[in-house]
Amino acid sequence: MQLPAPRGPLTERLFAELARPPHAFGPPPAGPYGDRHGDRHGDLHGDPCFGEEDAQLALFVCYELHYQGFDGVDDRWEWNPSLLALRERLETWFERWLARRVPRPPAPRSQEVPRALAALVAADDGPSLSAYLRGRADTAQFREFVVHRSIYQLKEADPHTWGIPRLLGRPKAALVEIQSDEYGGGRPERMHAELFRATMRGLGLDDSYGAYLGLVPGVTLAISNVMSLFGLHRRRRGALLGHLAAFEMTSSLPSRRYSQGLRRLGGDAGARRYFDEHVQADAVHEQIAAHDMCGAFAAEHPGLTGDILYGAACALTLDRLFAEHLLGRWREGRTSLRETDAEVTVR
Ligand SMILES: [Fe+2]
Ligand SMILES: [Fe+2]
Repeated sequence: MQLPAPRGPLTERLFAELARPPHAFGPPPAGPYGDRHGDRHGDLHGDPCFGEEDAQLALFVCYELHYQGFDGVDDRWEWNPSLLALRERLETWFERWLARRVPRPPAPRSQEVPRALAALVAADDGPSLSAYLRGRADTAQFREFVVHRSIYQLKEADPHTWGIPRLLGRPKAALVEIQSDEYGGGRPERMHAELFRATMRGLGLDDSYGAYLGLVPGVTLAISNVMSLFGLHRRRRGALLGHLAAFEMTSSLPSRRYSQGLRRLGGDAGARRYFDEHVQADAVHEQIAAHDMCGAFAAEHPGLTGDILYGAACALTLDRLFAEHLLGRWREGRTSLRETDAEVTVR
């Protein structure tokens, strides 16, 4: 994967450092260089340095050093102290970003966690992206949706895998059971990331890892960043499990609608298989995640039930912001991707 174009002074500085061999560098210059979008929404309150697009991309790139890395960026940057110091500042910013958007649900008693997760999911009243894609989207819009989703789906399951060594006993076995399915149960052609690549090819898209990183807006990057944040910090392990549970609990029915939408637009069985697979798989994963994983984890860690619910709430809120962004842009007759010259390759 190539480093994308910078989106502000922060990524300009970071990408220039990453192009060189690993070395010590100072913090980014402080200063009110937030973007207007951030100012308008008060995003910069208390975080005077970071514009939203700029900061989400910088954080995404810091995290990506722990996954596939970038062409031309030395692998040793992954544990470089200056890089980690910058990442910590970005994470502090991002945790505040989340706190402003995601009200913390009350902490349930341990035995109530599966039911509380179900109630949280049921109360979610965001707009239905899947209903739009099933019945109304045109092919260009469906392709845009898949481009956005490719940022996470081509590394599907990887961020939650960070949770495995942080668990013991029943919740660990449950997480491994889910992840094993996500990774194809030993058959690479059945890995969900591979099925997603088939969907991309079916739509005439580039299925190589990170091909569209430069085209997706901050809200799409935030969906990946929150998983990496929760996965890479042991203190966030409760939130990581709640996040995965919310993902699994909101996947089966929408996946059916995505498949129906793609069929309406002429997608063949190979292109639809990713979605068809999730109709079945996630109906099962949902139960394992809520009861065997989160329920058992809560019984062992009654002090972390609030974190489990918060992780789930973060997943639901980001999903809603994502749906609002796409549907809002399409309503205006605009692309939901970043309006750069490169959009021509997708539309
Ligand atoms: Fe999956
Ligand atoms: Fe799943």
